[in-house]
Order: sequence, then C-alpha cells, then structure tokens
Amino acid sequence: MIRPVKKLIRATEVTEGAGVTVRRTIGTPALRSLDPFLMFDHFGSSDPDEYIAGFPPHPHRGFVTFTYMLDGHMEHQDSMGNRGDLRAGGAQWMKAASGVIHSEMPRQGDGLMRGFQLWINLPAAEKMADPAYQEFSPQAIPEVRQGPVRVRLLAGKYGGRCGVVDDPHSDMHYLDIALEPGAEFALPLAGNYAAFVYVYEGSAAAGGSELPPHSLAVLGEGDEIRVGAGPGGARFVCVAGCPIGEEVVQYGPFVMNTREEIEQAIREYQSGQLVKKKAAMTGK
Ligand code: FE2
Repeated sequence: MIRPVKKLIRATEVTEGAGVTVRRTIGTPALRSLDPFLMFDHFGSSDPDEYIAGFPPHPHRGFVTFTYMLDGHMEHQDSMGNRGDLRAGGAQWMKAASGVIHSEMPRQGDGLMRGFQLWINLPAAEKMADPAYQEFSPQAIPEVRQGPVRVRLLAGKYGGRCGVVDDPHSDMHYLDIALEPGAEFALPLAGNYAAFVYVYEGSAAAGGSELPPHSLAVLGEGDEIRVGAGPGGARFVCVAGCPIGEEVVQYGPFVMNTREEIEQAIREYQSGQLVKKKAAMTGK
C-alpha cells in the first residue's frame, strides 16, 4: 500500500542562532514533533545578512543533530575537540546525548548557503550516553542513478546500496532525490516508521496530493513511499525513522523524558557541568 499524505505543514520562518533565518516545519505549533524527529529546519539564502552571524557556542543534550549541506561552507567546533568542515553535499551527525557545546559558523561572506538540520530524539537509555560525532565529505555519500531518478543516499538503503550515516537508535533513512520531469521515486518502507517528504525545488505529488515547495508532507501508513515529479522536475528529501514512543519534555536545546531531567540540564549548563565527556571524531 502506498503511503498517503496525512498532513501538509507549511514552513514558519524562525530566527535562530545569532540571527540566521530558517524555515521550520517539525518543531512548530502545527507539528510539535514527528516521533522520533523533534525539529526540521531548512536554511537557504543568498543574502549574507540572513546567515553571516551563524550559530555561536550553544548547548545540546538528549538527542542527535544531523546537518546536510546543499550549498555553502560552514565550520563546526565542539566541546569534544572536533573541528569540522561542512561543504556543499556533505553531512554531519552529532550525538549530543549527555551534553555537547558547539558552534556552527559560515565560512563564506557571500553566495548561497542552503541545507537542512534535523533533530532526532534518543531513547531514554541513550540520553546520558557519551556524545559522538561523524562527518561525511560530499564524495563519501553514495549516489544511485536509475534513469530519470538520482538519489544521494545519506542513510538507509536504496537501489541495492547502503547510506553512510548510521543512526542506530532510529534506523534513519535520509535520501536527497532529484527527479526529471514526470519521473517517479519509490521506496519500500516498514509500516510503523514515521516518514516525511520536503520538496525544496520544483513540484511533486505523493498519494494523489500536491506537494508545494517548502512544505513538509507527513506520510500516513503504508509500506511504500511514492513521489512523482511535476512538469519541471523536483528535488526533495525523503526521511524516515522508527518511533521511540516515550514521553518527551523539551526546553530549547535540552530534550529529556522528565521535568526533573530538564531542570538538571539547566542547572548543569549554568554551572559549567553540562559537558560530561569528550569523544574522538570519526567519519569519512
Ligand atoms: Fe547546534
């Protein structure tokens, strides 16, 4: 059965970091979360005033951040001692877990900066685990071409290939898809997995519903995702993951299971005790 579009979420413009404009869909009043996903931001601007201030040092606890760059160049530094270089087509997976303080700053003074940041929740048993970091160069990400369908396979399986990003707690699938006019993309997917599609160029349709650009389509139950491109072709990301099914208590960059754990995170951050562990960088 093909998954229908259950809900269409229009992006809300939000100012993040030191003054970066992002389009948010998951993590807004219209869609607080899509278990296991907590937030989905699309940043995209050719105006340096909308991104140049970047994201100076800030904390995270209790979840994973996953950043995928379409265009531009960012530098990442964190309390684990990692210094990362995020380039167009590359990706970064950071398991904040017990606590990370990091910064994400543009390494460009002009031109287009475009990409996505997804927050993936962690199960209770992993929230206070050691943090971890993986970074992937644009060349490390497999690309599968099947006629008019081109898929950059960040995570999950497609066309007999495996993505490079391993998010073991959610079994995440994350694909960046380009369709030529009228082409169709299909992906078999376990029925209980949460799934969404976000069109960022062109136009597309899924399960009989139009998918306007810069809107997030939450897909309903079924065992296959199908997305067809309009007459101008389409570029979109397709993301899926296994729900956790636990209580979520969020306060900004801290996402735990109880209020007490949030209060502890705030206390520890204020007293300089948030970061418990340094970890080495891995990746390709
Ligand atoms: Fe961050």
